[in-house]
Amino acid sequence: MTTTTTTLTRHLLIFLIISVFSQAGNARRSFACDPSNAAVKGFAFCNVKLPIGDRVKDLLSRLTLKEKLGLLVDNATAVPRLEMDEYEWWSEALHGVSNVGPGTRFGGEFPGATAFPQVITTAASFNTSLWEEIGRVVSDEARAMYNGGYGGLTYWSPNINIFRDPRWGRGQETPGEDPIVAGEYAARYVRGLQGNLPGDRLKVAACCKHYTAYDLDNWSGTDRFHFNAKVSKQEMVDTFEVPFRQCVMQGKVASVMCSYNQVNGIPTCADPRLLRDTIRGAWRLNGYIVSDCDSVGVFYDKQHYTTTPEEAAADAIKAGLDLDCGPFLAIHTQGAVDRGLLRESDIDSALVNTLTVQMRLGMFDGDSSAQIFGNLGPKDVCTPANQELALQAARQGIVLLKNHGPSLPLSPRRHRTVAVIGPNSDVTVTMIGNYAGIACGYTTPLQGIARYTKTIHQPGCSNVKCRNAHLFGDAIGAARQADATVLVMGLDQSIEAEFIDRNGLLLPGYQQELVSKVAKASKGPVILVLMSGGPIDVSFAEHDPRVSAIVWVGYPGQAGGTAIADVLFGTHNPGGKLPMTWYKQDYLSKVPMTTMDMRSNQARGYPGRTYRFYKGPVVYSFGHGLSYSNFIHTLVSAPTIFQVPVDGRHKNTTAATETVRVTHAKCGGLSIILQVDVKNAGSKDGSHTMLVYSTPPVGHWGPHKQLVAFSKVHVSAGTQLRVPIKIHVCKFLSVVDRSGIRRIPMGQHNLHIGDVKHVLSIQSTPLGVIKS
Ligand SMILES: *[C@@H]1O[C@H](CO)[C@@H](O)[C@H](O)[C@H]1NC(C)=O
Ligand SMILES: *[C@@H]1O[C@H](CO)[C@@H](O)[C@H](O)[C@H]1NC(C)=O
Ligand SMILES: *[C@@H]1O[C@H](CO)[C@@H](O)[C@H](O)[C@H]1NC(C)=O
Ligand SMILES: *[C@@H]1O[C@H](CO)[C@@H](O)[C@H](O)[C@H]1NC(C)=O
Repeated sequence: MTTTTTTLTRHLLIFLIISVFSQAGNARRSFACDPSNAAVKGFAFCNVKLPIGDRVKDLLSRLTLKEKLGLLVDNATAVPRLEMDEYEWWSEALHGVSNVGPGTRFGGEFPGATAFPQVITTAASFNTSLWEEIGRVVSDEARAMYNGGYGGLTYWSPNINIFRDPRWGRGQETPGEDPIVAGEYAARYVRGLQGNLPGDRLKVAACCKHYTAYDLDNWSGTDRFHFNAKVSKQEMVDTFEVPFRQCVMQGKVASVMCSYNQVNGIPTCADPRLLRDTIRGAWRLNGYIVSDCDSVGVFYDKQHYTTTPEEAAADAIKAGLDLDCGPFLAIHTQGAVDRGLLRESDIDSALVNTLTVQMRLGMFDGDSSAQIFGNLGPKDVCTPANQELALQAARQGIVLLKNHGPSLPLSPRRHRTVAVIGPNSDVTVTMIGNYAGIACGYTTPLQGIARYTKTIHQPGCSNVKCRNAHLFGDAIGAARQADATVLVMGLDQSIEAEFIDRNGLLLPGYQQELVSKVAKASKGPVILVLMSGGPIDVSFAEHDPRVSAIVWVGYPGQAGGTAIADVLFGTHNPGGKLPMTWYKQDYLSKVPMTTMDMRSNQARGYPGRTYRFYKGPVVYSFGHGLSYSNFIHTLVSAPTIFQVPVDGRHKNTTAATETVRVTHAKCGGLSIILQVDVKNAGSKDGSHTMLVYSTPPVGHWGPHKQLVAFSKVHVSAGTQLRVPIKIHVCKFLSVVDRSGIRRIPMGQHNLHIGDVKHVLSIQSTPLGVIKS
């Protein structure tokens, strides 16, 4: 008895000692300024009481040129002399902590992280508070992983390039084709990630990428490393810059990444007008500018933009680049200094920007466990609440495209067996798309549906490429027996991805044939579920009366199967709207992917891009999305005339023309407010997105239609809600002229919200005439 107790005690003691040691082994030591180290006492840069600017200056003054060069790259070298560790800047968190960058890995106490839907799906929710909330949860998990030694603090997300061309393999990563939606997404997601903390502090540092006019991977002999995007001043200001500007100015992002491509013959990472003048100058970036991974090397070796690598290094740093993803600047910058192409002070300017961000993150504040997010750990990753948010996001992003009959929702009572068919019907990693990590777990579509009813599963094709019809017989057999058929079809990363743009918009291989044959044989209603990032031309199914309903789920994340089933069986009323146009296949023959113009050009037979400029036939338009309810809008109040006060000095010119330059108008707080009643006339509660468009007066270079506001509201069945809509006049009712100048056209702006139309007349008034 005594012996046993002693042994037990001894074991327990050994166990305790081991656990204490292994804990200590896992805990991350401070990046710098560890207070237990006597040496740091003399370092002013470690003194948290000093302003960050002074601390950065002190640190810089202590670094040798060689040490500085080691800090110009993502794999930043340690400075043991100053008790500074090495740091890997490259981490990713596009829609959950990802292991794409070397700064973050999974393992040990961090086997996975919450995998939210791919961004294009989350964008379809049009729910701005959801966007921010996802950012908050992702940064909780990121901070927890950093504390445990598994993650970084600098995340190169989000990707906010305009989804300009439907073939783009990375369109899935973006919030879609509308510049204002993309800008709002950027600002909200970044705010969620960075924590919106007082005093310039950062929870993690986000990064808006890829600046700019970058949305082509590899199309018909042109790849992104060699692409020279020819962009007019008008398109630049009107489209490509809009989300970046909002990310920096409203989102207060801590970083912007320049892209691989050239814009009008200059690599973006070597263009001082883009980096120094625009991002840092005009938009006042408080943060660092980083290259895409290995952009500087690419413009030297692939684009041959400079004749020597030293010139490439000098051009990039002088243009305003602060950090290189890749080793190029660590290798060639010394040579650039030696040849007199660069001064040490140019390098200092870059380092001020990166070191300041590290200080704002608390990396020079010593013991990180004592800091504001120091208590976050494994218990804060993949929590039930975080995983529930991933499920909510998936539900909110699902878009009901067609519901003939209506045949949806299905009912477990009437549909006792459901045939679940298709190459995406039982997938896991397909659901998280690219730039993902390792999910906490998955619910596949088949598993989700099986929670409601009995299933018969037949893949129909062995993968999404669906190269033959060998498995069709069993799939058709299943549809014959079942009370309803759900086909989960679409794409995956073998069809659309980084490096891979699509050649066409149709379903790959024999998928279309499988859908039609199964639909023909099916006993009950046939539901087509499309899993994809980019749009698919499913005109055949839209027109086939035997395909009763079509649902687009994007890449719905780890909980995708639950969300899909909840929508199909009506426990969630779908409210998503398409964030991009679904073109027909033949559209592609008229638009080379390399043509950046958004505006149509009739003389050239060029139809234009996105709902803003393209007026031809589509499969589904931007903003399309049905509900199980019916929402009715009524305009309660709206101004009919709006006076724009104009600076007196410019009154003569404005009277002579029909537009007012935004910079000449007194824009501060100039908004109009509409009051709209939204009635849920259906029998199911649901969320509804109000999309408010404006058509500017004709003849002013503008789009034929532009989203100027959106608002997502929940309305219970049979009730009505009054929703205020605020439209900032200078920002949203302006158009951009051919010289890239933003102007407010005077005259009639036609606002529309669903069926509701309203004419707003904008007039200019010289300042002083208006009584304040
Ligand atoms: C990062 O730099 C260290 C030396 O500072 C080197 O050992 C390591 O291989 C580098 N890692 C990468 C991914 O280049
Ligand atoms: C682009 O595609 C071509 C052929 O489809 C391939 O040979 C080439 O390696 C690709 N380039 C890149 C950068 O992916
Ligand atoms: C105002 O416009 C008129 C007619 O276009 C022109 O003759 C006059 O010189 C202008 N005055 C000023 C101050 O620009
Ligand atoms: C927006 O998302 C949040 C978080 O999931 C949710 O609580 C809220 O109800 C959503 N808003 C609407 C109108 O659906």
